[in-house]
Amino acid sequence: MVVLTCEYQPGLEGIPAAQSSISYVDGKQGILEYRGIRVEELAQKSTFLETTYLLIWGKLPTREQLKEFETDILYHRRIKYRIRDMMKCFPETGHPMDALQTSAAALGLFYARRALDDPAYIRKAVVRLIAKIPTMVAAFQLMRKGNDAVQPNDNLDYAANFLYMLTEIEPDPLAARIFDVCLILHAEHTINASTFSARVTASTLTDPYAVVASAVGTLAGPLHGGANEEVLRMLEEIGSIRNVRPYVEKCIQNKEKIMGFGHRVYKVKDPRATILQNLAEQLFEKTGYDEYYDIAKELERVVEEKLGHKGIYANVDFYSGLVYRKLGIPMDLFTPVFAIARVAGWLAHWKEQLAVNKIFRPTQVYKGIHHAAYIPMEER
Ligand code: SDX
Repeated sequence: MVVLTCEYQPGLEGIPAAQSSISYVDGKQGILEYRGIRVEELAQKSTFLETTYLLIWGKLPTREQLKEFETDILYHRRIKYRIRDMMKCFPETGHPMDALQTSAAALGLFYARRALDDPAYIRKAVVRLIAKIPTMVAAFQLMRKGNDAVQPNDNLDYAANFLYMLTEIEPDPLAARIFDVCLILHAEHTINASTFSARVTASTLTDPYAVVASAVGTLAGPLHGGANEEVLRMLEEIGSIRNVRPYVEKCIQNKEKIMGFGHRVYKVKDPRATILQNLAEQLFEKTGYDEYYDIAKELERVVEEKLGHKGIYANVDFYSGLVYRKLGIPMDLFTPVFAIARVAGWLAHWKEQLAVNKIFRPTQVYKGIHHAAYIPMEER
């Protein structure tokens, strides 16, 4: 007989589901730290691969460790031709998050060995997933347009190579740096829904490819990682600054959620939204203004006026889409880009879960009936 140790909380709100030292969020102060380092400092001074190393192995790499990690990633960017051939059978109308979830799980067919207690196996799985996820996202983009995927460009760093594989054009260095910072900002965020999925899946001791596939499926939802794509659609629907206030009032009236706002933990503006807003302004300065930015700023002002008292402010998904749009990333790839970054956090939690594993099996509050009779078909 299980003794209930705490009240049922919808969505496990406020209930610790793990002990972790990977990242920390202070929702009242608007603070986010990766392994104790403020995300603002990492955005300014680090790279996505260095941040990935920090998240997964718990400390900043030495120059040699980082060089070795970057080289390993570069050597593993390519994907098996069978996976590319499989992706050619995907319908071009399919959502890129479904394509990513399918191809991430397919990696497990090629790397099926599970040696979860072997640090070398852990490192190899990390390298393969961090290296191959961007290649698979870019491959589906080109294939759904009827073209062949392009091979990774070994002369380009991680961020620049993804933009190249996606557009077949070597990106401007500023665009590549801004994209790399976006990856840092999206890499990790404590026990969010997709990371919780990753930990639950990891706790059954399945392979890391199934862990990532499970997390990708969770991130896809519009209440989670899917919000960035919905924000751009919302800005398009609003269409002009004068429509902002009526739009917000309609949503509040109909109790509809406004995409890109609100957060289970942050009750102030998400610190990542502030950095992304600055990145957007840098990009606009260099590559020309985006009229949706004015609508977004007015929308943020009106939502703060109307909902700020409820702790509802812009979150990470609000400005990211404006940056990605300026980088030439199609709208329905915004969430796969979120996934490319969050693989780092999911793998850090996978490794941490394995170290102290106990399979997740919560209890429930039963609301059903007992002693029901089996009614024969003719009497139903
Ligand atoms: C991410 O968890 C993470 O860390 C996630 C993430 C990460 O890095 O992994 O930060 C990434 O997922 C960011 C969130 C992206 N999602 C969206 O932008 C979708 C819109 N936001 C909401 O769906 C909502 O704010 C959530 C899902 C983010 C949080 O929901 P909660 O904590 O369950 O809050 P709730 O739905 O219970 O709302 C509490 C109140 C309600 O009002 P009342 O019924 O109490 O009067 O706040 C209102 C809600 O109606 N509310 C909103 C709102 N979000 C909450 N009202 C209007 N618009 C919104 N966006």
